[in-house]
Amino acid sequence: MARIVIVGGGGYVGMTYAAAFADLGHDVVGVDVDATKIDALRARIAPIHEPGIEDLLRRGLDSGHLRFETDYASVSDAEFVFICVGTPSDEYGRAEMKYITAAAREIALHAQGHTIVVNKSTMPVGSVELIAEILNEHASHAVSFDVVSNPEFLREGCALHDVFHPDRIVLGTHDALAAAHVGALYEPLGSPIVVTDPRSAEMIKYASNAFLATKISFINEVATICEGLGADICAVARGMGLDERIGPRFLQAGVGFGGSCFPKDVRALAAMADDAGGDASLLRAVLDINVSMQVRAVDKLATRLGGVQGKTIAVLGLAFKPNTDDLRESPALAVIEQLLASGATVRATDPVAVPRATGLVPDAHLVDDPYAAVTGADAMILMTDWAEYRDLDLDHLANAMRGRLVVDGRNVLDPTSVRDAGLLYEGIGRPATWPAVRIVVEREQSEVITLAAD
Ligand code: UDX
Repeated sequence: MARIVIVGGGGYVGMTYAAAFADLGHDVVGVDVDATKIDALRARIAPIHEPGIEDLLRRGLDSGHLRFETDYASVSDAEFVFICVGTPSDEYGRAEMKYITAAAREIALHAQGHTIVVNKSTMPVGSVELIAEILNEHASHAVSFDVVSNPEFLREGCALHDVFHPDRIVLGTHDALAAAHVGALYEPLGSPIVVTDPRSAEMIKYASNAFLATKISFINEVATICEGLGADICAVARGMGLDERIGPRFLQAGVGFGGSCFPKDVRALAAMADDAGGDASLLRAVLDINVSMQVRAVDKLATRLGGVQGKTIAVLGLAFKPNTDDLRESPALAVIEQLLASGATVRATDPVAVPRATGLVPDAHLVDDPYAAVTGADAMILMTDWAEYRDLDLDHLANAMRGRLVVDGRNVLDPTSVRDAGLLYEGIGRPATWPAVRIVVEREQSEVITLAAD
């Protein structure tokens, strides 16, 4: 069993990997400079909302395989040190490296003997060389390092599934022995391991996130075309996704992507393209389309209501996606800010993110319950596809609202049911009047989908 230190162990990626490696039987120390997070983790409380993580943390802490520290002393005894600190965007869209370089200096100062440093944070192409330089510059002569790129692909809200069932493990190193040592940590998971040079591994992470973001902006652009032509994007995405070359995932049209990865990583890849003399026109279009989806959602409200000034708008969902309380670059916050700037009153709710949102949108009224949010509202807009919002009591909603307009920013409500409750339905890329129903017939292996007039 290996001795592992996770730097940035109080963050979402670091905490998840610390708990997972401990569960696989390794001795793990999560190190974080944020004493508040470390105190919470020692008390078995996760600093962020992530389903299942507290049980896994408890198991690790109770077994003695997992502990959390605010200093780097444990690095001296570690075989592997994972760097999991954040790389937020700087003012030019580039990845901010100051937390990474500070961590590398600390690792260099505390390491003893041979240490494998694993770059798990999303770092610009060329970072393995950069980290190696910092380590060698600050370390004492008796110490040696291998640096391996090993990007993470964890989705928030499903991090536990993803950490134990990865589609692939990517290792970037020129040293076959270092790749074998890091690869052995993941062996019990049984997933394919791709070993490349460091720069290609770093690029795999950026290109993967940029591709998924492109898929979303592509389907969102097609949704806007569907709106003009009277086609239904949900049917279009279903029909496209059955083509195995395309696949059904990340074709959910809506108010766009947010979170701590997609916007930041697409911006960073575009900045890297600029620096390297490459062309980032597609990446910039992906970002522009994403912002335009939020503007279009507000336009939908304004068009139907004859302007939003003086109107009360209920916003359902604050988090950038369900099953998390993460608000970073959340489309919901952007829409709320636009509504407030246009003179609307906003009543917003979220199953878990209300405490975190307090203070971020001080002029919005935050409430705990969707029915409280819609009471007396002129319109409702659904911004995050939480499961509980798919099952709203639509009659209750219709009775509580003053107006009739429901904008479904994630295309998860059933338009017919919404209309049956006496409300006006507006989706993203769905026909204004609803000419089509979907009849799905499951037949043993094959599935028949028919589109027919209502
Ligand atoms: C992403 C990557 O999936 C993960 O591999 C990476 O390491 C971190 O970034 P995450 O940010 O947690 O994970 O969320 P993800 O589930 O990928 O969704 C990102 C955003 O895209 C969300 O705002 C989501 O609502 C939106 N989205 C996703 C769509 O609008 N449509 C889709 O079809 C899929």
